[in-house]
Amino acid sequence: ALQRLNRIRDAITTIPDFPKPGIYFKDIFPILGNPEVFSELNEIIYEASKSMPQVECVVGLESRGFLFGPILAQKLKVPFVPIRKKGKLPGEVVSQTFELEYGTDCFEIQRGSVTKGQKVLIIDDLLATGGTMKAASDLVTKVGADVVLCLCIIELLGLKGAKSLDKPFKSLIAFD
Ligand code: PRP
Ligand code: MG
Repeated sequence: ALQRLNRIRDAITTIPDFPKPGIYFKDIFPILGNPEVFSELNEIIYEASKSMPQVECVVGLESRGFLFGPILAQKLKVPFVPIRKKGKLPGEVVSQTFELEYGTDCFEIQRGSVTKGQKVLIIDDLLATGGTMKAASDLVTKVGADVVLCLCIIELLGLKGAKSLDKPFKSLIAFD
């Protein structure tokens, strides 16, 4: 299992000083550039999600959560629901503002897209400060669903983002 994950880890590239000096950017797109590695990762994500009480809906976070969420939802045979940045989703939405390194941002979900008590898995590519995942978890909870797992492919351990989460959390690949 470790060997499988190491193939994924090896495909992730690190770009120093992007988007700002001092930041080591983790680029997941090389994974998608290799169909075998991408397929393997999607299988690992699927297996990780099956360790949970049965998931009834997958929520993915704009934008990189959209690369993995719909594939997982298809494998689990459950609906995929997007959380998007403010002003992108039509119809009635519920909002959640959150802190970024500089300033604030706002996430939205369409009202009625998840149902009361529904067991939701939230997926994103990466956990850094945890602010993005916490906002998503708060938003899904606000509309009455039950967050059974927050799943990220990559976790940046140095930022201790997992500590800010109050729902079950799992990451597949950790970097210092
Ligand atoms: C990145 C990443 C996570 C988030 C993690 O998204 O995809 O969603 O940052 O950071 P945090 O844990 O400190 O909140 P970004 O906002 O850069 O946008 P993108 O997914 O649209 O590329
Ligand atoms: Mg993102």
